[in-house]
Amino acid sequence: MVGPRPQRIDLDHLRRMKAARQKIAMLTAYDFRMAAAAEAAGVHSLLIGDSMGTVLLGHESTRGTPLSLMVTLGEAVRRGAPSVFLIGDLPFECISVGEAVLSGARRFRDEAGCDAVKVEVGPGEEDLIAGLARAGINAVAHLGLRPQQVLTPDGYRSQARDAESIADLVAQARRMVAAGAAMLLLEAVPNEASQAVVAAVEVPVIGCGAGPACDGHVLVTEDMLGLGAPRPPRFVPQHAQLGEQVARALSQYVEDIAAGRYPGPEHVYHMRGATHAAKP
Ligand code: KIV
Repeated sequence: MVGPRPQRIDLDHLRRMKAARQKIAMLTAYDFRMAAAAEAAGVHSLLIGDSMGTVLLGHESTRGTPLSLMVTLGEAVRRGAPSVFLIGDLPFECISVGEAVLSGARRFRDEAGCDAVKVEVGPGEEDLIAGLARAGINAVAHLGLRPQQVLTPDGYRSQARDAESIADLVAQARRMVAAGAAMLLLEAVPNEASQAVVAAVEVPVIGCGAGPACDGHVLVTEDMLGLGAPRPPRFVPQHAQLGEQVARALSQYVEDIAAGRYPGPEHVYHMRGATHAAKP
């Protein structure tokens, strides 16, 4: 066992969890209240995911997620969850312009209090990871399905589903770790692929729809709470159906206003010194 939760979870703590075979629970968070709820629930790590662009902004793809919004909301996430290992997700805006990777990573670290940044990397992009490592920034290399390469909601496909592509994924994972990746994130790959990667590298491997072999797991929180996409991916457990509850509550509000039930006497302020309740 790794011992009690520290005041601030760092990379060493996550490494010790991996060594002790204690699984890491990670979720996305984009705001103060959700972050505080995650921290109170014992979540170890939060990702300020660029999925913010689809979940909060309603874009079809994550490509348009603005760094400055992520950093501002990232500060709120850190206020809500002071002890988690906080990861900023470098948006496409940074990755598509080489030097913006470092400046974006520094903003996540210095303004939002992030402990690491995640970068979606393809074959031959070890330099991105090496540059971050040289600058003393913990880099999480995101392999497998890379949502920034998907432009429409129906374009999400699982990856590395045969022996040859698993071997490629393992080789790529090794290269990223050799370049300095502090952690890996595998998205939408079969468990056989994750197993092979976990066996090949020393760093913690987080899965997003990547099977039980991973050292930890991450989900888009809204998807898991039934607040997100109407058809969430098959790997997302439905721990709540908040979307239905929200819809019912909002309709109730509209109906109560139409019927004059809201505001009721309990919702009304009264004049100081008034001897009877104010009439509507
Ligand atoms: O942006 C995101 O939410 C992600 C996933 C891995 C959860 O990158």
